[in-house]
Amino acid sequence: KQVLVLNGPNLGRLGKRQPEIYGHTTFDELAAMCVEWGRGLGFTVDVRQTNHEGDMVDWLNAAADNGTPVVLNAAAWTHYSYAIYDACAQLSAPLIEVHISDPTRRPEVFRHTSVITEHAAAVVAGKGIDGYREALEILAREPGNN
Ligand code: DQA
Repeated sequence: KQVLVLNGPNLGRLGKRQPEIYGHTTFDELAAMCVEWGRGLGFTVDVRQTNHEGDMVDWLNAAADNGTPVVLNAAAWTHYSYAIYDACAQLSAPLIEVHISDPTRRPEVFRHTSVITEHAAAVVAGKGIDGYREALEILAREPGNN
């Protein structure tokens, strides 16, 4: 069973980007871990990152067409993108929202809203990179997956 792990803007610089908030694991390391964690759960995991909102909408539209479950860290788009909101609304398979930090506990008030949560079967936030593993485990427990 295929699973998409989709990551939004600035997450390609993981490891270098504000490590005091996001840690030292690089994006490539994260991708490799997700593939391994997925394999252990019987998933073929495809990990992607983009800084371009249209790419993300295209990927989500394809996931809707194909009935593919999605683990989504929409990064800053989480807080304001109605294009991403609309794309998430069309998904048929479960969507799990992930954040490395816990945006609801950060000082910037704009981080306290999520346009994703309404469409998500679960939210995993503030668990660091391990949150992606938790998200994959939640997907594995969803009826209809595996
Ligand atoms: C993030 C939290 C967002 O507020 C922020 O814009 C990000 C990353 C996280 O993983 O903690 O880019 O989604």
